[in-house]
Amino acid sequence: MSVPMNVSILKFDAVVVGAGGAGLRSAIQLSEAGLKTAVLSKVFPTRSHTVAAQGGVAASLGNSEEDHWRWHMYDTVKGSDWLGDQDSIEYMCRKAVEVVVDLEHYGMPFDRVDNGKIYQRNFGGHMSNFGEKPVRRACAAADRTGHAMLHAMYQRNVKANTQFFVEWMALDLIRDPEGVVVGVSAMEMETGQIAIFHARAVIFATGGAGRIFASSTNAFINTGDGLGMAARAGIPLEDMEFWQFHPTGVAGAGVLITEGVRGEGGILRNADNEHFMERYAPNAKDLASRDVVSRAMTTEIKEGRGCGPNRDYVLLDITHLDPETIMKRLPGIREISIQFAGVDPIKAPIPVVPTAHYQMGGIPTSYDGRVVALGADGENVVVPGFYAAGECACASVHGANRLGTNSLLDLLVFGKSAGDSAVEDLKVGKAHRELPKDAADRARSRIEAIDQRQGGVSVHEARQAIACAMQDHAGVFRFADLLQKGVTRILEVEKMTQNLEIKDKSLVWNTARVEALETENLIEVAKATMISAEARKESRGAHMRDDAPNTPEFPNGRNDKAWLKHSLWHREGNRVAYKPVRLQPLTVETVALKTRSY
Ligand code: FUM
Repeated sequence: MSVPMNVSILKFDAVVVGAGGAGLRSAIQLSEAGLKTAVLSKVFPTRSHTVAAQGGVAASLGNSEEDHWRWHMYDTVKGSDWLGDQDSIEYMCRKAVEVVVDLEHYGMPFDRVDNGKIYQRNFGGHMSNFGEKPVRRACAAADRTGHAMLHAMYQRNVKANTQFFVEWMALDLIRDPEGVVVGVSAMEMETGQIAIFHARAVIFATGGAGRIFASSTNAFINTGDGLGMAARAGIPLEDMEFWQFHPTGVAGAGVLITEGVRGEGGILRNADNEHFMERYAPNAKDLASRDVVSRAMTTEIKEGRGCGPNRDYVLLDITHLDPETIMKRLPGIREISIQFAGVDPIKAPIPVVPTAHYQMGGIPTSYDGRVVALGADGENVVVPGFYAAGECACASVHGANRLGTNSLLDLLVFGKSAGDSAVEDLKVGKAHRELPKDAADRARSRIEAIDQRQGGVSVHEARQAIACAMQDHAGVFRFADLLQKGVTRILEVEKMTQNLEIKDKSLVWNTARVEALETENLIEVAKATMISAEARKESRGAHMRDDAPNTPEFPNGRNDKAWLKHSLWHREGNRVAYKPVRLQPLTVETVALKTRSY
């Protein structure tokens, strides 16, 4: 199938790339404000990766016990190992109740407690009274919270007349000579038609890039498209060294088993049947922060206390729970466990391993969803016309480690604020800025190169090379020599991705082109991750290095004097720059630095 190389131009007030939670939430704001809004998505909106979010969305509703947004803020700052920007964190935690109430009004079918209020469960790192004891803060729809959320928000968008472009892949960001973002180029997957979406506001909500790793909870669509496009357009990527490994992926399959299982009372056990988290996190135990639990599990396995014939997983045990609770609160988990592990968790524990799950970094934004770059004097400068929200963005609420259920909260709060900021900006002036003459050139030449290349590398080979390099060199524990070798290796792999070829020319469907184009995005994320990780010479949150001294001066290997700063990876020259962490919240006092323990 050949690609029509004529380019159509479609004009909108705003174009949102991605129809997961963040994209749908921002589109609601735009369409309900009367703006002509397009949403582009590689898949049908309700199949976006948000659908896989299971356990809940954090909000200090206090429905089952006392809670407060300031406790939530404290937990989030501590979870981030103090790398999160405290103005963004305050904003998110304060807004949490409002965005959950919005969902109620959209008709989201939350589970309920007896008095009719939203059901809330425990999740790792969420505590009451500034870290005292676990608190029920995760608002849940059984173990299918993301699924319920997507459906509610999709319906709301349909009502608001948002125009969906389904099975369209955005290819590149278009900036005019003054750097203002004026649209995106995109390809319709069915026909190969290239179009320019000419807009006054472009919002990226393209999700994560977990497919850079070999073992991942992420959907195959999670290829870092927004990050690739931003990097190619000269926008640096922030804090890309920080990747979350979710403690409980099904061993051998990677499919997510929600932390809500531990929230409902599940216990991790080693080959000796020991409840080993009691040793690693005496207070929070299985409900410690994810980086802590993943490292504990990896240590158990490395030290020979793993389970199974190869001693390469641990067990998640809920056999002590009432079967009715499992059927009511965790029906999807039971199904996943039976299908992917061959185990009914009512009768036997589930084999689990830490699995790549979430990128804490991304396109730098402020809490209003506007994309910011560093100015010549090191100050934040807004990139006009460009907004980002959700996992592709870094409003910097997660810092070095995200708390479970703060991802759904992030996409709601910052999806909404990005939409609101665009609405506000579009009130000023009505005209579209002119498109540059070469607006479609990059997209066209990328596709032509892939189509015409002979004797190149297959997409499968290149993707395997990326995933193996990342898994080998940038995992749960990181080693100085492996990181250095990882940088060399990933730059070698990059050469493969510059030489991609669709091998079977008789079967050139656009899906093959899409996979090649996605691979060009994956490599940008992989380089950003490896290079930023090698450069950060301390341990913090999910970035744990063997060579960072763990002494009273540097507890857990964290070095605030030298490294309390955000990294910014620039594609041009593979350069890493840094900018300060915003320690000043909006209205309350700073959560002071201290040693992190659970
Ligand atoms: O464990 C989970 O249900 C995942 C939630 C999250 O990543 O926030």
